[in-house]
Amino acid sequence: MKSDHKRLKVGITGLGDVSSFHIQAIEMHEEADLMAVCDTDPATQLKVEGVSFYTNYLEMLEKEDLDVIHNCLPHHLHYSVTKACVEKGIHVLLEKPVSISYEEGLLQKELEDRLDAKICVCFQNRYNQTFLELLRWLDKEETGTITGIKGLVTWFREPVYYESKPWRRKKI
Ligand SMILES: NC(=O)c1ccc[n+]([C@@H]2O[C@H](COP(=O)([O-])OP(=O)(O)OC[C@H]3O[C@@H](n4cnc5c(N)ncnc54)[C@H](O)[C@@H]3O)[C@@H](O)[C@H]2O)c1
Repeated sequence: MKSDHKRLKVGITGLGDVSSFHIQAIEMHEEADLMAVCDTDPATQLKVEGVSFYTNYLEMLEKEDLDVIHNCLPHHLHYSVTKACVEKGIHVLLEKPVSISYEEGLLQKELEDRLDAKICVCFQNRYNQTFLELLRWLDKEETGTITGIKGLVTWFREPVYYESKPWRRKKI
């Protein structure tokens, strides 16, 4: 792996809605420093102060000596940007979804198997109380063997949610 520093040097691609949670988490982490961020929209640089800002992620990867990238870009850029990072030995915390197709997901898995960098996909709902309780229940001996599980997501999004960003509801 690239760096022997104890503190991780972190970058972010995509400074949209979800990036705020990533910025906060990095700032709260005792062993991580946010070093650089990238977004094609220059107005987004107001979200973070005192950090190098780029509009081209390849330039950021070239100029910064990063250990980890938080990939917070729209779906269709998940695979290509993650690939560019891990090929440089930079670990990736990738926002969901893994990719926009099953094939790209397999390619991503192949990248991680072949290269010396980890790809972690952000599925934070695994840590919701409901799921943790389900896990505890599944682990109990008296639960017996599970032969099938049915899951339902009951979230509702108004059309305005999908219309508010050009990439939502699309495989651009
Ligand atoms: N884990 C979760 O609960 C959760 C929640 C929200 C979003 N997400 C995921 O995070 C990703 C981003 O969602 P969002 O709502 O923050 O989107 P967003 O549209 O608010 O932000 C995306 C940002 O990427 C920038 N961008 C687009 N193309 C770029 C490029 N080539 N180079 C650099 N920057 C570029 C845009 O200017 C924008 O600021 C999506 O894949 C989404 O599914 C996950």
